[in-house]
Amino acid sequence: MPHLRVTGMDCHIGSQLTETSPFIAAAEKVLALVDQLAASGIALEHLDLGGGLGIRYDDETPPSIAEYAKALLGALQGRSEKIIVEPGRVLVGNAGVLLTRIEYLKHGEEKNFAIVDAAMNDLMRPALYDAWHAILPVQKREGEAQQYDVVGPICETGDFFGHARKMAVDKGDTLAVMSAGAYGMSMSSNYNTRPRAAEVMVDDAVVHLVRERETVSQLYAAEKIVA
Ligand SMILES: Cc1ncc(COP(=O)(O)O)c(C=O)c1O
Repeated sequence: MPHLRVTGMDCHIGSQLTETSPFIAAAEKVLALVDQLAASGIALEHLDLGGGLGIRYDDETPPSIAEYAKALLGALQGRSEKIIVEPGRVLVGNAGVLLTRIEYLKHGEEKNFAIVDAAMNDLMRPALYDAWHAILPVQKREGEAQQYDVVGPICETGDFFGHARKMAVDKGDTLAVMSAGAYGMSMSSNYNTRPRAAEVMVDDAVVHLVRERETVSQLYAAEKIVA
């Protein structure tokens, strides 16, 4: 096709990988195809090997960035193409937490609920694909820990952050939903007319407001009444 200039090959094999071997297997396949193309006269300038390096949400032990880079470089020895990678969550996932306040504690015969003021629109991963996030009480309390389902205030079965979490907490306490730095705000929405949360960046003892909390009037501002 005379109007196409083929410049590179890109792949992304998946996310939250906790071993280097799939990255290497993918790189080897891509390199074989690149060499096949070179033999037929198509010389590529770049190789984009995607993202996918996992983070620790619970007890996973993903490779460090150095281990990942070492393994990739081993597979890429002697290549002249520009190498591109697209890490996502590994850069920011564990740099962010979602802070939320307990509105009510509801104790039942079979289950206890901690109802919090954040919801599935703020951090969608548990509702969307049953993702597990650690949830830690910010205040340390004496007393026996009890098991809670940590749920939001939206009337949806999927509006939860975690099930059966053991915590010693009280109404009004703050909880930190961990590992919310990736796919947190970026996947958030205004579902249920919920303004999005403020974002605060903490640099040692200095706190910067980097995104203002949205207001309900902002949500309605673009709407038009049919005349
Ligand atoms: C094409 C592509 N590149 C990079 C990424 C980043 O993935 P991760 O956050 O797992 O590193 C994704 C995630 O879906 C993707 O689809």
